[in-house]
Amino acid sequence: MIFERSVLGYLFRKLAGRKQAQENQDTGAYQGANSKELNASHGTDSKQTNTNQRTGAPGQVFKAQIIARNYTLAAALLFGTQGIVALLGAIDLIIPDLPSPIPFEYGRSIHLGLAVLWPLIGTMGMVYYFVTEDLDREIFSPRLAKWQFWLVLAASLSIYASLTFRLGRGREYLEGLPLSYAGISLALGLFSYNLMRTLIKHKQRITPAAMIMTAGSVLLLMFLIPNILSVTNPIADEATKFWVVHAWEEMAFELTTSGFLASYLKNTGLAAKKDIEKWLYLEAALTVAAGLFGTGHHYYWIGFPAYWLLVGFLFSFLQLIPVALLVLMVYKGLKKRPQLGNRQKLTLALILSSMLYHVTGASLLGFIITVPWINLYMHGTYITSGHAHLALFGSLGFLVLGGSYYILSRGTQPDRKTYRRGIMAVLALNVGLLTMSTALIIAGFLQAYRARYLGMNFMEVNLQLNLYLSARAAGGAIFTSGDLLLTWQILKAWRKSKNAVS
Ligand code: HEM
Ligand code: HEM
Ligand SMILES: [Fe+2]
Repeated sequence: MIFERSVLGYLFRKLAGRKQAQENQDTGAYQGANSKELNASHGTDSKQTNTNQRTGAPGQVFKAQIIARNYTLAAALLFGTQGIVALLGAIDLIIPDLPSPIPFEYGRSIHLGLAVLWPLIGTMGMVYYFVTEDLDREIFSPRLAKWQFWLVLAASLSIYASLTFRLGRGREYLEGLPLSYAGISLALGLFSYNLMRTLIKHKQRITPAAMIMTAGSVLLLMFLIPNILSVTNPIADEATKFWVVHAWEEMAFELTTSGFLASYLKNTGLAAKKDIEKWLYLEAALTVAAGLFGTGHHYYWIGFPAYWLLVGFLFSFLQLIPVALLVLMVYKGLKKRPQLGNRQKLTLALILSSMLYHVTGASLLGFIITVPWINLYMHGTYITSGHAHLALFGSLGFLVLGGSYYILSRGTQPDRKTYRRGIMAVLALNVGLLTMSTALIIAGFLQAYRARYLGMNFMEVNLQLNLYLSARAAGGAIFTSGDLLLTWQILKAWRKSKNAVS
């Protein structure tokens, strides 16, 4: 099998253990986790058969977990769309004369809007799912969670629709109309309220994972609210953009990510509670402190005072520590080498891909380009784009897809063919992403060297980059094939599991 021979497969075997019971693959039986998983894996009605080993009480599929399916399905479908939009944009960059219904700048805006919002919608579903799983209690108001879904979806779609009709306000990443962001903020407000009321209602059961996922959700709300406003001052405009591009991605989503991973490892029985929860609050505190002041690595370049250069640099260094703790947690979670069913293996393939880019493309490359002497040359080149793709998709996107697949396949196991296709999709996404970002990093290096070091004309240099931009488009094509294949497998899992969880 391709997966068994791949580098990813090797890493996987190293971490999760080589032995795979053959009958697992054939019957879909899953061993080594709690009985919630075990029962679900036989494809039976999990509502009736689950027994929760941790509490001894009959386990159940919570309403919030069924509603989480809407969120994660929407995220997977939007991700599917993004691959196509992105590939068309990458081709447009090399052959600008091709007829296109939308000009490049609006296509780019839709692409960036998708990059920010589908991981948000998926994360909402994952947080609902795993907070209820962790507390072993229903969410405060399932009805509110349902309304919130339609609200966030409508507001997101309104952004893509308005940009298609060339209506926008020009704030990068947040280019839709302010009303749409008011809608998303309202959805985040309902989300935070629902989560906080849930924690208050079940305060004796609060776990660190549930707590930090809730904190992450409140931070998402806080940093989006200023983006409802449109401002004329360009410095304020850029700063509010970075409260989403940085404070969301490098702080709030880091909290939901850690909470999700902790809860996933614990609740599927992969890791012991004590191994997982030990560092979680410390990790969260470091994430918030480093993430908040780490925003400084963007500030100097948008017109803030020079001391932000130093503050940004120092705190960006601190950002590496919580990531190291997160990796340690996942390593501990998997070192027991449990035997895994195909559903878990596919989920873990996505999660491990995310960890790979979290360490390399997000943290290490991010730190290198933060160093002021380097950033002076690299700022705003294709290197930033390489980092953005490795970090935003590599680290966050892969994780949200892992969570979405896991949630949408509950109660089922993929048959061999579906599993193999899923693994092929993960490989294509990895190969595509690596090809794309390597080409971008080389192109960015040439931009920095020729235009900023040798002082050549910037536009002239850009014309010399076609080879690398073509390689990026080729990587993009591989990526999109993986994107569509995975979305299809996720859709199949969703359909197959409908009866098992409803
Ligand atoms: C999952 C984590 C991360 C995500 C999702 C992420 C995402 C992004 C994105 C989307 C951009 C492009 C911003 C733009 O277009 O203006 C960016 C730029 C940047 N990121 Fe990250 N990033 C992450 C982690 C990090 C880390 C850990 C560091 C440093 C330690 C870092 C340092 C930077 C710097 C310095 C820039 C600006 C580059 C320039 O001046 O052109 N990032 N990041
Ligand atoms: C088929 C795969 C993809 C292709 C071909 C692609 C292509 C592009 C293109 C052409 C741009 C415009 C500017 C530039 O050349 O960098 C761009 C920017 C961007 N894309 Fe993608 N993209 C893909 C997938 C994704 C995914 C899955 C995400 C995140 C979920 C993403 C996030 C971003 C971000 C954050 C930027 C702004 C980078 C910056 O300005 O520094 N892309 N992409
Ligand atoms: Fe940043």
